[in-house]
Amino acid sequence: MAIREIVLYPDPRLSQKTEIVKSFDSKLEKLLDDMFETMVAARGLGLAAPQIGELVQVAVIDLSIEDMPPAVISSERPIVAPKKRLELINPKIITAVKDVTSDEGCLSIPEYRDSVKRKECVTVEASDRAGNLFILEGRELLAFALQHEIDHLNGVLFVDHLSRLKRGIFQRWYAKRQRYTEE
Ligand code: CO
Repeated sequence: MAIREIVLYPDPRLSQKTEIVKSFDSKLEKLLDDMFETMVAARGLGLAAPQIGELVQVAVIDLSIEDMPPAVISSERPIVAPKKRLELINPKIITAVKDVTSDEGCLSIPEYRDSVKRKECVTVEASDRAGNLFILEGRELLAFALQHEIDHLNGVLFVDHLSRLKRGIFQRWYAKRQRYTEE
C-alpha cells in the first residue's frame, strides 16, 4: 500500500470522464488499498480515483468516524454485513429522492466548503473488488458522499453545483489563495 499524491483543482484530470473497470485483478486491489490509505492519511470521508490521477470508475468512502447508522446493503450474494467503509467499482445512481442542501468540501479543493443541492436519499448499484454487484441505500451524509464521489467519476466537482453567485465567490477565493501561495 502507498499514500498517493492528491490531484488538486484545477487539474484537468478532475474534469474528465473515467473508464469502466473490466478487470477485477490485483491491480484494482492495489488501487483500492492505496485509495483507502490516501483517504485516511488526508482525513477525508471519500476519495475517487481521478483524485489520485487514475481515470477509472473507482471510489472509496469511509464514514466510520461519523456517528451514524451504517449503509444498508442488499445483494444477491449471502448478506454482506452493513458497513461504513465502502468500495465502489463502476457505481451508478439508480434512484435519488428529495432535494436538500449539503455542506461539502473536497480533498482536491483544500480548505473550501460550501453548501450544494443534493438528494437526501439515493440507491446505488456498484461492484465490490471481487466483481460482485451490490445495491446500496444511503441517506443524508452517506447519500451526499455517494453523490459527491460518483460526480468525481463523471468529471464533476462540488463547486460545479454552486450557483453563479457562489461560483464567483469561489473563483475569487481561489485566485486570492493562488496569489498568497505564490508569494
Ligand atoms: Co471530492
